[in-house]
Amino acid sequence: MSGTEHPIHLSDDPRIGNILLTEEQLTSRIAELGAQITEDYAGRNPLLVCVLRGAYAFATDLCFAINLPIELDFIAVSSYGATTRTSGVVRLVKDLDVDLTDRDVILVEDIVDTGLTLRYLRRSLEARGPASLEVCTLLAREAADLEGLGVRYVGFTIGGDFVVGYGLDANEKYRNLRYLAVFDSSDTEVR
Ligand code: IMP
Repeated sequence: MSGTEHPIHLSDDPRIGNILLTEEQLTSRIAELGAQITEDYAGRNPLLVCVLRGAYAFATDLCFAINLPIELDFIAVSSYGATTRTSGVVRLVKDLDVDLTDRDVILVEDIVDTGLTLRYLRRSLEARGPASLEVCTLLAREAADLEGLGVRYVGFTIGGDFVVGYGLDANEKYRNLRYLAVFDSSDTEVR
């Protein structure tokens, strides 16, 4: 099958490989992250900044798991060209609507891979004078320098496989899987 053809039903797609994280595993870990954030930010109303598009599913469930009066805004960046691996360039596609001055900001990411996107976002958000800025990512590669990048909350650490589902895409598809699966990218170039 070429990279542009898709089976009628998503669940029949042969490129979706092993399930890396089930819906139950995701739900239970996100409940823990939400409880931790609720404890850490007691008495405050943090602003969650969801990095579009990959973090939308995670940010939605994380919000429900936090028992605080939070606010939510969205930022969109594109770190790669349309089909190639990494271009090494991060571009702001959609900026925030909310002013970050004196806010407790939690940046919500889908996956920290090389850390390029996060470094760019950190620099951009820190320049806007927040009271605090922490990062919460659903996934991080084993090789990622989480301490250096200042990542406080991590859902799961994973290996080098390209993964799809639960918001994460391969060429804009597969975001609507309820679980995370390894994606067979051998016959198609993915970002
Ligand atoms: P970084 O800038 O190299 O850390 O890349 C982060 C971005 O690359 C993520 O926000 C994702 O959009 C994308 N990405 C990296 N690995 C994967 C993957 O396995 N599946 C889907 N997207 C990925």
